[in-house]
Amino acid sequence: MADSKNISWHDSKVTKEQRRNLNHHKSVTVWFTGLSGSGKSTISVELEKELHRSGVRTYRLDGDNIRHGLNKDLGFDPDDRKENIRRIGEVSKLMVEAGLVVLTAFISPYRTDREEVRNMVEHGEFIEVFVDASIETCAARDPKGLYQKARAGKVKGFTGIDAPYEAPVNPEITVNTDEERIEESVQKIISYLKTKQYLI
Ligand code: PPS
Repeated sequence: MADSKNISWHDSKVTKEQRRNLNHHKSVTVWFTGLSGSGKSTISVELEKELHRSGVRTYRLDGDNIRHGLNKDLGFDPDDRKENIRRIGEVSKLMVEAGLVVLTAFISPYRTDREEVRNMVEHGEFIEVFVDASIETCAARDPKGLYQKARAGKVKGFTGIDAPYEAPVNPEITVNTDEERIEESVQKIISYLKTKQYLI
């Protein structure tokens, strides 16, 4: 680990509140968690499109994309997944400071890792969205053929097959993609953001 003792914090003269005031909305991280194939990416893409259309400044961080760049040194054992989520937490925190509505789509299978991200930011700046779908549904969708590979033993440590997924205990929002259409899930999240006055 590099030495981080001889560094000090520099405050900006423009605050998060001042940055937020330029927008007609608050800034927040909407954190999607769920099994591979549950619909995290699909819902976050559609949600971003809707928010952007109504003038909300957004940015989306997605597992597969981030693992091509920022986190390309990380794999899928528990320590690497933890570090993956920690870095995304730090990046999304910066983006919230910058005034954005950040949408993150990572399996983020461990409860403690998600709680650590929640604890990095101020109360109300982290909204956990549980994208609930049964493992049977996800494995039947199998958009990348990974469930089939995992069941054949060709991918090791695959979430839901031979690695755990810890569902949220008390998420702000649950969408169930076994039953709901994508648009319904998107509208449920938008309603929450409006009711809680993130969108003004
Ligand atoms: S994690 O657990 O939050 O660190 O994972 P994440 O960064 O979201 O990456 C998940 C995507 O990586 C692919 N993939 C795997 N997923 C789970 N387990 C294993 N072993 C694995 N290997 C590769 C998979 O395509 C995941 O994408 P999604 O979009 O979730 O289907």
